[in-house]
Amino acid sequence: MNPIQLFDPASSTYTYLLFDTDSREALIIDPVDEQLGRDLGVLREYGLQLMLVVETHAHADHVTSASLLVEHTGARTAAPEACGIRTAAIQLQDGAELRFGRQHIRALHTPGHTAGSMSYVWESEGQHHVFTGDTLLINGCGRTDFQSGSADALYNSLTQVLFALPDDTVVWPGHDYQGRSHSTIGAEKAGNARVAGKSLAEFKAIMDNLNLPRPRRIDEAVPANLQSGLRHDADGAALMAVRPAEGYAGNITPQLAWSWVQAGEAVLVDVRSDAEREWVGFVPGSVALAWKQWPGMVANPDFDAGLRAAVATGQKTVLLCRSGVRSIAAARRATELGLEAYNILEGFEGDPDELAHRGRKGGWRYHGLPWRQG
Ligand SMILES: [Fe+2]
Repeated sequence: MNPIQLFDPASSTYTYLLFDTDSREALIIDPVDEQLGRDLGVLREYGLQLMLVVETHAHADHVTSASLLVEHTGARTAAPEACGIRTAAIQLQDGAELRFGRQHIRALHTPGHTAGSMSYVWESEGQHHVFTGDTLLINGCGRTDFQSGSADALYNSLTQVLFALPDDTVVWPGHDYQGRSHSTIGAEKAGNARVAGKSLAEFKAIMDNLNLPRPRRIDEAVPANLQSGLRHDADGAALMAVRPAEGYAGNITPQLAWSWVQAGEAVLVDVRSDAEREWVGFVPGSVALAWKQWPGMVANPDFDAGLRAAVATGQKTVLLCRSGVRSIAAARRATELGLEAYNILEGFEGDPDELAHRGRKGGWRYHGLPWRQG
């Protein structure tokens, strides 16, 4: 069977929905945020359970709906490891397989449009399909002039990786700007205007002279897509909800804390020691008020007075520490002093990972919020 091909007219992006007819488990490739409602509707209409949300790369022309689909369906996100989408639950390497029911797709590393770009091969009822993202387009290919693009790498990915697939493999591109839906490897090998019969030097000359405009949404889309489509201004999601707590006003995500600070509703009080702020980094505009100080981590006798001085009447206080432990104690104390105080979950660096490194499992920096050093 063929994949379900869905189109976003604003960005000319194709999204693909693949499913296993027996188990109804499904996988979606390159979903677009503005089409969330449509995509959830298609899943309902076909009676599908979405298992996986897969990206071909970190897009520059649209924002993915990956994180929203996860919230609605419980699916897991998967992205090429070299794309740096650290929020993706599954980090794909070349040759990795993703299963949905009795079906699976296989990841092919096809760098060039971006260094991490991948294509995905699917074999269904004896027919080969390949989802090429922006690596191979119909009678074209993705650009290589930004986002770690490389014409050399793209030439190799097209001629040595994708054109090595069987000629009758159906090509499902990430975009088409002229209403074409699919092609085949054989047709592209024979007739693709950019690459068919071209030497590497000829290909590079073509790619160097495209003179394409900068994508309209690149400044917004790439940072959002590096976090599976999460945006700091996301509304109504669990991300932006206050979670109840004992002894203070609540626990909040770093994203919600930052949105309050930006709106002038809250003062961010950093309760780490001076040494930690200096070595590890700090949030611009935050108030430095240690809960405990090196050496010996003794309680700061000036904490209460400092807090009263920092927070205006009617303002919320949001408290940040390394991983969200000291800030709970500080939030309780601030509450005793009559303030509306919130603990920022995960702190500045988050919890340590399996190698005891911090900063890779959540926290202010991990979520891409503003910070500085020195
Ligand atoms: Fe792209």
